[in-house]
Amino acid sequence: MPDRNAELRIETIYSADQIRARLETLAGEIAAAKPQNLLVVPVLKGSFVFAADLLRALHAANLTPEVDFLTLSSYRKSRTSLGQVSILRDLDLDVQNRHVILIDDVLDSGRTLAFAKDLLSARGAARIETCVLLDKNAPRAVSIEADYCAFTCPNVFVVGYGMDVAHRYRELPFVGRLVD
Ligand code: IMP
Ligand code: MG
Repeated sequence: MPDRNAELRIETIYSADQIRARLETLAGEIAAAKPQNLLVVPVLKGSFVFAADLLRALHAANLTPEVDFLTLSSYRKSRTSLGQVSILRDLDLDVQNRHVILIDDVLDSGRTLAFAKDLLSARGAARIETCVLLDKNAPRAVSIEADYCAFTCPNVFVVGYGMDVAHRYRELPFVGRLVD
């Protein structure tokens, strides 16, 4: 774990401009599928910046989704997965018979999104799709692929644009990798 005061070097992987352009295209792809009765569910915390930008891009693409939040934990104060997912804060809305798009920052082992999909499926969602900022080129612990993906990304630990290491770097407007 880095010393809070030690400044780590961060190398940009995806710049703010690249992300903005890609999200416009991604929102267009989502809108082209003409989702009905759409509920967008950002999986917190890591997806909050991505979700906020994507939602505004969806608005620009003429969609009118409802939004609710699900807070799950899988990584805590660590760069490696604990392997177990739990609900820290549940949805307020009923997902029964709805088309849900789950938004997450990173698809890594797949456990987080697989857990969220199973949860909403058990609650009777009509259709569940997933949309991730980064699809990591990493071995999956469970078999799951994202329906929508902004970028595929090397198997390195990334921060920024909502993503953290030990609660730091979420404020960065770009996606970067930590250089030790
Ligand atoms: P998975 O359950 O292994 O697919 O992990 C997905 C979750 O782990 C994501 O929702 C992220 O919050 C977190 N995560 C995975 N890789 C990274 C990373 O490189 N940086 C920050 N968070 C990550
Ligand atoms: Mg996350």
